[in-house]
Amino acid sequence: MLEEARNHFRGGRYDAARRLLSQRVAQIPGDVDAWQLLAVSHLHLGQPVEARAAAQKAVAFGPERASSHLTLGQVMQQQDELLAAETAYRKAIELNPNFHQAYQKLGIVLEERWQTQQPPSDVQAGNDSAHGVRSWQSRFNQSTRACWELFTPHRRRVTSLLLDEPADRHGSLSVLGAGNCNDLDLKQLCRFYSTVHLVDIDERSIVEGTKAQQIEAPSEQLQLHGGVDVTGVAHWFDGRTAEHPAETSELLDCIQQARTARVNLPGNVDVAISICLLSQLMTALDTFIGAAHAEFTRLAAAIRTRHLELLIGSVRPGGRALVVTDVASSEMVPELRSCGQKQLPKLLERIMTEERFLTGVNPFHLQRLCRDVPSLSAQVEQVRVSHPWLWYLPGKTYVVCAMSVTRSNPVP
Ligand SMILES: C[S@@+](CC[C@H](N)C(=O)[O-])C[C@H]1O[C@@H](n2cnc3c(N)ncnc32)[C@H](O)[C@@H]1O
Repeated sequence: MLEEARNHFRGGRYDAARRLLSQRVAQIPGDVDAWQLLAVSHLHLGQPVEARAAAQKAVAFGPERASSHLTLGQVMQQQDELLAAETAYRKAIELNPNFHQAYQKLGIVLEERWQTQQPPSDVQAGNDSAHGVRSWQSRFNQSTRACWELFTPHRRRVTSLLLDEPADRHGSLSVLGAGNCNDLDLKQLCRFYSTVHLVDIDERSIVEGTKAQQIEAPSEQLQLHGGVDVTGVAHWFDGRTAEHPAETSELLDCIQQARTARVNLPGNVDVAISICLLSQLMTALDTFIGAAHAEFTRLAAAIRTRHLELLIGSVRPGGRALVVTDVASSEMVPELRSCGQKQLPKLLERIMTEERFLTGVNPFHLQRLCRDVPSLSAQVEQVRVSHPWLWYLPGKTYVVCAMSVTRSNPVP
């Protein structure tokens, strides 16, 4: 009977499915699959009260089943009960930390909740352009602060990259773009490294991020470097927008400064990582000067190359520099919404061939830069690009890769 109901459901015959499923649960009240499908059938039939009752039964009979909580979340979301939907999706993820659909749906609810809390968009745009990159980043970080669960698969990948070399144990780590620290398991990192430096332009985010993980900071072991602009040129964009960008002559000066910027980063560390920071630097340029500007490409290239130089230069000879970079989002590549981890390498190949990646962050291009640009190749011994993984953010899913570089030892 359940299979027959599923066939009706797949064929869009929701009323026929509903009838069979109602009979089924009357006969076997503990059939969790039947309650779930019944809830979704009611949703399709525009019967929210019945949908909610069926979803609650699914949870009551299958409290340990992640899919029951997913169904309850869907029902609540349809009825605009976003907080209840969020709670249900979080529970689904807690029960099954590999539940792709639950991450996707939690991301959508978090985005909706964030949007409804916001002032009208003209006020936001005014604020952002008036205060420049710092307040723009700070707003972005606020929008992702409550994303600890959503970041789970991403955090596991990033943290394991940092823990997978036994030789790094008891060494020092520097994290550029630490922000809310949702992608870092700080307790694990502090058990492994003797010193951890967190660097970000947005001081508040690293303070709140360490607090959220209930870890004492700043301390001798965990050092906070808030308010540090890793490009050295963020102030150039204060008060600018893509509609009112800086004059070309000013940008030429800015390019010059970006190329040689001196930034006070923790030095001589064993491992340095830049996490999903390059894309933010590129998006900031797009927001404040616009991708159509004649100097955009040169400025983007200057900032990117200098970022790699400073990152690699902050590592001791023989140490590791890692660049974790989001390559493309589900806005540009909608297939990312339904793509599982297994199909991801193939999808990434297509993204590369079809050039559907974010500006300036193609990891294979970064790898080529490390080999071809003299200021980089002189410092670099080995460059590798990792397998891709998925990163869920409110309303969007990204494909992410890590480029890993070993800093060369000086010739004796
Ligand atoms: C996408 S977030 C990385 C995710 C972050 N680790 C988290 O858990 O939320 C990128 C981070 O880079 C920081 N950032 C952006 N531009 C920066 C700059 N010019 N200098 C230093 N940090 C910057 C942002 O404030 C943000 O925290």
